[in-house]
Amino acid sequence: MNTDIAMQLLKRPLTLICILLAPVLALAQQSSDTPDRLAPFYPTPELIVEKMLQLAELKPGEHLFDLGSGDGRIVIMAAQKFGAIATGIEIDRDLYERSVQRIKKLGLQQKARIIHGDILKQDYSSADVVTVYLLPSSNEKVRPLLEKQLKKGARVVCHDFEMSGWTPERVVRVEDQEGRQHTLFLYRR
Ligand SMILES: C[S@@+](CC[C@H](N)C(=O)[O-])C[C@H]1O[C@@H](n2cnc3c(N)ncnc32)[C@H](O)[C@@H]1O
Repeated sequence: MNTDIAMQLLKRPLTLICILLAPVLALAQQSSDTPDRLAPFYPTPELIVEKMLQLAELKPGEHLFDLGSGDGRIVIMAAQKFGAIATGIEIDRDLYERSVQRIKKLGLQQKARIIHGDILKQDYSSADVVTVYLLPSSNEKVRPLLEKQLKKGARVVCHDFEMSGWTPERVVRVEDQEGRQHTLFLYRR
């Protein structure tokens, strides 16, 4: 930058402020685009997955969404055993790829898919059933989205952490094969 241009810029305070703030604004933009990690990967035992889908009374042809689908086990069981059209959303590339591979291997591509993306940026308006196994603070972030988008009668099953502010239709306690207790909350919009 030559001295004349530099002097011109210095005479324009707003331009100068913008130049000085540019790296800060770029950083802020970047962090607001970075998806929130709403929970670590901690899989639901298969027995409990089945109980969740039974509790939701998932039917063939219904649309299920698993928020943070991990290795894809809920999506896979929903499609394979319950005949649902199942979608998982997973932020972790490795888990996403692993679950897509499993779906292909099982020949379930017509009924099961995984979106590599952010739970908070999806459209759930077609969902009949939503499954949630996230942290309590994350349920608070997801709740407004579900309240806005879910159709009347859609069911939401939360594993271990309730959706605060909603009244569950049923609360079920189930023990897994290792004797660990799980609590399932069924909500109906
Ligand atoms: C507790 S695990 C539950 C996995 C699976 N639903 C189950 O019950 O077996 C939570 C999953 O959410 C994923 N996750 C966390 N934040 C996310 C986000 N913002 N968007 C998509 N997936 C996310 C994690 O990578 C992890 O696989």
